[in-house]
Amino acid sequence: MTRVLSCIQPTGDVHLGNYLGALRNWVSGQHEADVFHGIVDLHALTVTDTPGTLGDATVRMAAMLFAVGLDPDVATVFVQSHVPEHTQLGWVMECTVSFGELSRMTQFKDKSAKREGDFISAGLFTYPALQAADIVLYDAEEVPVGEDQRQHIEITRDIAIRFNSRFGDTFVVPKAVTPKAGARVMDLQDPTSKMSKSAGSDTGLVYLLEEPAAIMKKFKRAVTDSETEVRYDRAEKPGVSNLLDILAACSGEPAEVLACRYTQYGPLKSDAGEAVVEMLRPIQARYQELMTDRAELARLLHVGAERAGAVARATLARAYEHIGLLPR
Ligand code: TRP
Repeated sequence: MTRVLSCIQPTGDVHLGNYLGALRNWVSGQHEADVFHGIVDLHALTVTDTPGTLGDATVRMAAMLFAVGLDPDVATVFVQSHVPEHTQLGWVMECTVSFGELSRMTQFKDKSAKREGDFISAGLFTYPALQAADIVLYDAEEVPVGEDQRQHIEITRDIAIRFNSRFGDTFVVPKAVTPKAGARVMDLQDPTSKMSKSAGSDTGLVYLLEEPAAIMKKFKRAVTDSETEVRYDRAEKPGVSNLLDILAACSGEPAEVLACRYTQYGPLKSDAGEAVVEMLRPIQARYQELMTDRAELARLLHVGAERAGAVARATLARAYEHIGLLPR
């Protein structure tokens, strides 16, 4: 079975765009490949310095991953900091990548420009080396990522290939794969932009843990257009098409077919809102249940860390041996 690795940072609350665009595919994908899912808390450390927040965010992310349907008996869900080999191999990766290569990373350039005048950690700069370690530790063959992460997978390949040619065949060279197309969910207030945490306000954003009444309100206020015709047309009618896409993602029916059932925007908005509320109801219930049983959550993450750790230990040992470090 193909080994697949996906990682997510424990930052911010998961929203409908994350779920329909990505997480839902993680759940269906767990039966098609040997999947490892890391909650990369140490990556989040590159931009987080408030004491006591990361652990909490990590628990909430873990509960969410299990609540949406990742099965701990099938998928390996683990916390990056629970597997010390990430930082150990991270150093080796740092010594296998050049300053120049890291300087060319567009994510570093963007993120450091945004933090101008603020603290820019060296970790933000070496971040791709830690990410490379995350990937090669698990002999991952495929890494499903969006466009913004392609360059990080490319540099991981370069590092793995360079290491293998220096020290002999050690790492599986991974490849970036385009995740199975999830729904592209747009902001309800600005339907030409993707639903994203970086939006100025969250009136166009629906969180997975939001109350039904609040969700309905956001849908009822969704921006449409000044016409009255319900038609699926992304370019001309982005607001209406987004509502149709969301309804389609919840119901499994094609957006074009759904469009024929509506003559007014009002009922489309409330049906889309209700479909989302109903889809989220069982997820919210499982999430609350998990969060009230912290011992069980800790146990699930322990199981994940054991499984991940076994693979990671073997890879790190192989790398150290091939380098020729003195065995203890
Ligand atoms: N850099 C990724 C992001 O910002 C998160 C990440 C860390 C990751 N390690 C990874 C993604 C390994 C894929 C594989 O989303």
